[in-house]
Amino acid sequence: MKPRLGLPADVEAVTNVIINTMPLDPQWDYRFPYRHEYPEDHYKYTRMLFEYFLDPSYDDWLVMVVEDSVEPGGSSEVVAFGVWDVSYVNKRRYGPGYKTQDPVTEVEERGGKTRKDANHEHFNEFWRGQIRAYKKFFGSIGPEQMHLQILATLPEFQRRGIGSSLCKWAMELVRRDTLKDMSVMASPMGHELYTWLGFERVGTFFIHVPGEDERLVLQAMMYRPSKLRRGIAVEDADGGCVMI
Ligand SMILES: CC(C)(COP(=O)(O)OP(=O)(O)OC[C@H]1O[C@@H](n2cnc3c(N)ncnc32)[C@H](O)[C@@H]1OP(=O)(O)O)[C@@H](O)C(=O)NCCC(=O)NCCS
Repeated sequence: MKPRLGLPADVEAVTNVIINTMPLDPQWDYRFPYRHEYPEDHYKYTRMLFEYFLDPSYDDWLVMVVEDSVEPGGSSEVVAFGVWDVSYVNKRRYGPGYKTQDPVTEVEERGGKTRKDANHEHFNEFWRGQIRAYKKFFGSIGPEQMHLQILATLPEFQRRGIGSSLCKWAMELVRRDTLKDMSVMASPMGHELYTWLGFERVGTFFIHVPGEDERLVLQAMMYRPSKLRRGIAVEDADGGCVMI
């Protein structure tokens, strides 16, 4: 169950994990409601995104995987993984003006804008919302943090401690590299895991296209190794932002 670094050769296995797991997260239906009609597009663009994440030259992004046997006694396969934004390393090296590599835009430019599996309004609002939420809840912390972008354990391997082993690996990295926090915009299932791991909830965020009833609810959460709470934005009861 020990996490290892994800490699370019893992791209197929990781794509299979994400396609078979993420429908449990409401954001997947929100962004990709036509994936059953267009499975080829769904696979192609999901895989393309992970080609970037797993590319060693895309070093602002780190993928860790966990392997296990799908069949009893069978060979090990990737059953879970996490993707982190670790651009703090390059920001330390090149200064805070360093711009984080953006694989989502790369995929958009390679045909992602016309993929048929997606609701493009929801897709764009989701990414814009993630950026707004990051700025609102974590922006004041500055570059000395890492962000958990994606975490997935295949359904048949859940509740065996695999997701938490990936998070604990990253929590150890936060301590080793003396970072201020690890942040995440948590899904409902993720919220259970991160709460169990001792993350704190710093606010609720809604993804919503004006004029629609449908909306997504995400919880901004963070793990902080130190007890210091100064200068961090936390949403108050009325949905405003306060500094504590
Ligand atoms: C969230 C997710 C990665 C958790 O992975 P996992 O390998 O099952 O997590 P763990 O087994 O390490 O869980 C550790 C503890 O977290 C809590 N927990 C995890 N998933 C839970 C759930 N679905 N319901 C309630 N508690 C949960 C439990 O306390 C669990 O301990 P227990 O099983 O002894 O009760 C997995 O459910 C998943 O892939 N979900 C779909 C995708 C998703 O929402 N990802 C998160 C994006 S932010």
